[in-house]
Amino acid sequence: MLLFLDTANVEEIKEINAWGVLSGITTNPTLIVKEGKDFKKVVKEICNIVDGPVSAEVTATDAEGMIKQGLDIATWADNVVVKCPLTEAGLQATAHLSKKDIKVNVTLCFSANQALLAARAGAYFISPFVGRLDDINQDGCALVEEIVELYHMQAIETRVLAASIRTPQQVTRCAIAGADVATLPFKVFKMLVKHPLTDAGLTQFLKDWEKVTAEQPVAAKK
Ligand code: G3P
Repeated sequence: MLLFLDTANVEEIKEINAWGVLSGITTNPTLIVKEGKDFKKVVKEICNIVDGPVSAEVTATDAEGMIKQGLDIATWADNVVVKCPLTEAGLQATAHLSKKDIKVNVTLCFSANQALLAARAGAYFISPFVGRLDDINQDGCALVEEIVELYHMQAIETRVLAASIRTPQQVTRCAIAGADVATLPFKVFKMLVKHPLTDAGLTQFLKDWEKVTAEQPVAAKK
């Protein structure tokens, strides 16, 4: 499972990118607005930093408007992916854009049937929203499992991109379910790397090492 970062914050992107684990970025209108920067400028900047797909979402609600915005977004960078919502108009726009070889990430997916429709419209990614289902007392990871199985049974190539991830446990469950990608907020990336036993172990190693270097400075250097 590839790991994407769900943010439009350039500093966060640079920090996680330096770890060597980042395969792409997802943004949405809320994340773009939070940064207070020009949409096109920030997307182009992110596309330059990251060597992988960068999703940028349309904001029109009618098919014609989505297609117009999608065609424009697709010219911003080679690695940009147009994000369309899972509505009737969104499916129409997805079909139109994907016929033009433009990669589309269909977002706001909350059911396996919606995922089937997105795939038939030609979606490159489908984004089931795990955390928002958990928020209403449903099992978001179970939806990811269901879509992965459905796509496998139907030999569908659309990639499953688990979105709205809030916890490390959701990351593990999505990976075991066979999701192709999980997009994580900065905070969750930080949670994944942390373990108190790693910290305690390193503190002990360094303490022991210091002792040796103080007692036998030459031996420690060998
Ligand atoms: O980018 C879409 C998704 O990841 C949003 O997550 O936490 O707002 O439900 P969240």
